[in-house]
Amino acid sequence: MPPRPVIIDTDPSPDDAVAFLVALASPEELEVLAITTVAGNVPLPLTSQNALKALELARRTETPVYAGAHAPLIRPLITAEHVHGRTGFDGYDLPDPTTQLARGFAPDAIIELVMSRPQGEVTLCCLAPLTNIALALAKEPKLASRLREIVLMGGSFSEGGNVTPAAEFNIYVDPEAAARVLKCGAPITMIPLDCTHQALTTPERLDKLRHIGTPLAEAFYHLLKFNKIFDEQKYGTVGGPLHDATVPAYLLRPELFSGRMVHVDVECASDLTLGMTVVDWWSVTGKPATVKVCREINAQGYFDLVIDRLARL
Ligand code: BDR
Ligand code: CA
Repeated sequence: MPPRPVIIDTDPSPDDAVAFLVALASPEELEVLAITTVAGNVPLPLTSQNALKALELARRTETPVYAGAHAPLIRPLITAEHVHGRTGFDGYDLPDPTTQLARGFAPDAIIELVMSRPQGEVTLCCLAPLTNIALALAKEPKLASRLREIVLMGGSFSEGGNVTPAAEFNIYVDPEAAARVLKCGAPITMIPLDCTHQALTTPERLDKLRHIGTPLAEAFYHLLKFNKIFDEQKYGTVGGPLHDATVPAYLLRPELFSGRMVHVDVECASDLTLGMTVVDWWSVTGKPATVKVCREINAQGYFDLVIDRLARL
């Protein structure tokens, strides 16, 4: 089977970068058409720069990186420097990139790449607030019907929120965009905190990563170690969640995940629960079950996969 074409929409902190590097390290299964950046963990210039830095470290600079939205659709940007540091990549000094962004606006690049390929071919891997995807859907009404699938890290069901008691960061930053994407009509898989909070960067897993022995492994060992300081204090766990690499892992090894088709709404009005993903697990509303929500992950299988793929770079 030819590799599955994907576009990766991202706001690089380290877990985002691990995600797109895992995809790039899997050319038999995944063809990365482009990386598109958006404001999220840190402002857009930094997420874009971090994407270029990670690609340079991996010597994969042929992958085009398009910058997209500086801000959510209608709300001011909320960032997460308290988790990832001022740069989004605190914990290890990577050199400034020598490569440039590709010319063009990320939502336009998404439209062009999807519409120029046959129906049902391209999968969108979404690791960030969904602003770029919502803008692309608004500009090209045929986009959703042209996609093979959208796989996104975001939202929460019974795990509660990580930015408010009700909401997960990617959805909370741009709830209107998330609501639009979840209703777009394309097949959607959502990997929420319920899964990612089971997938922790324990000392054993980080040591295994470091033992790969490459400059890339050394850098991500330190970057993920920096990240887990905040998460361990917050959650009282040993290790922090490695959120975004669940998306390529799902495409590479779907059997590591379990979930079911359900209806999902996003709360866009209430101050108290803004950005909450309201998951109709028991089908009490009778609304169509259009989103596959994953609830369980085989965490060890996931880390074995991630480390195996990073070792190829
Ligand atoms: C999400 O928020 C970001 O900080 C992570 O990269 C991930 O995409 C988890 O809530
Ligand atoms: Ca992210």
